[in-house]
Amino acid sequence: MNYLFAPQTANYESSAVRDILKVTQQGHVISFAGGLPAEDIFPLEAVKSAYEKVFASGNSSLQYGLTEGFIPLREAIQSRMHRKGIFSTTDNILLTTGSQQVIDLFSRIMLAPGDVVLAEDPTYLSALQVFRSYGAHVIAVGSDDKGMDPVDLKAKMELYHPKFVYAIPTFSNPDGKLWSRERREALLQLSNEYNVLILEDDPYGDIQFHSEDNILPIAALDKGQSRVVYTSTFSKSVVPALRTGWVTGPIEVVQMMAKAKQMNDLHSSSIDQQALYYLLRDFDLDGHIEQIRTVYHHRMMIMRDYLAKLGSGLFSFSEPRGGMFMWVEGNDQLDTTMLLHQAVEKGVAFVPGAPFYIEQPKLNTFRLNFSHSAPEKIKLGMDRLVEVLLNPAEVKQ
Ligand SMILES: Cc1ncc(COP(=O)(O)O)c(C=O)c1O
Repeated sequence: MNYLFAPQTANYESSAVRDILKVTQQGHVISFAGGLPAEDIFPLEAVKSAYEKVFASGNSSLQYGLTEGFIPLREAIQSRMHRKGIFSTTDNILLTTGSQQVIDLFSRIMLAPGDVVLAEDPTYLSALQVFRSYGAHVIAVGSDDKGMDPVDLKAKMELYHPKFVYAIPTFSNPDGKLWSRERREALLQLSNEYNVLILEDDPYGDIQFHSEDNILPIAALDKGQSRVVYTSTFSKSVVPALRTGWVTGPIEVVQMMAKAKQMNDLHSSSIDQQALYYLLRDFDLDGHIEQIRTVYHHRMMIMRDYLAKLGSGLFSFSEPRGGMFMWVEGNDQLDTTMLLHQAVEKGVAFVPGAPFYIEQPKLNTFRLNFSHSAPEKIKLGMDRLVEVLLNPAEVKQ
């Protein structure tokens, strides 16, 4: 049967990383490939008790809810964001099915075919897929380890008149980068100058290893509160299965996204939102986030020590100051997609860097996730990986 799909489906791409993950999900393989949080410290009992409180509160807890989401949870998010310097009201907070849905809803209300989105290279692959699904052209802005290069950003704003800039300034996926305060301010300033919105995607901001890093989201620097659409999620600080994220930003933008959401799914699961409300009320989430920071920092250091022993002439990486990922670059001859097959044979997996690139993919890069595996597994996996990295010639062509 020739299914007459709508023309825009021609822009739908399957995630290259998901396809890679299938290869890596064999029982004996230690996988540093996925972007999974540590299951062994999920607050299972607290989540269970929060759901019990929802059900104990009676039949009305099972009713349809507001498109914008459960008000007491929005109030709790509002006060958590105040602590980060983002002064929203409950009216301009919309609860969503993960921050992934924010990326989609925002694209849906902003992008027409041919529009331009500026982003860093490499960047979050599933955001690229969404932007392209609406027919947008994603253009890479040059960057270094401090963030987007303001000179290139200015040139590209002038040349392309982008609809928005997509940024993950705090412990990015895939490369773990932390932007400097100056680069955050430069982006904001150029956005004001050229009348461009910023979509600030901040799923990892809480997973900060060094308390002395005084990190302000770009949304907190936007004193006029008119430029930045900020999204975050409970996927990394509580559990991803709750599928609860949120967006805050200029009221007109958030209201338009709420209209789009209404058409899309009426509202996200209100049972999950109520459970999260009880969890935030009765569970020490800040204490739990502290535990996540300690555990992930420890796991990252184990990985880092292995990579450091490889020698800087062969591989380069920078030690992330938070988040869940390390980004490694090998010499110019290395093709990490080829290398992955060898690694999987040895029982370890990573994600090759190429799919995360907008323009010229660097075939010699790869991403390692350090949050998911317990220390002993990390050691075993890194033993295997180092062996493969030091003998790339064995790769079967
Ligand atoms: C940069 C980035 N944005 C958004 C998401 C989506 O997260 P969620 O939909 O679980 O909130 C992820 C998930 O890994 C991510 O890495």
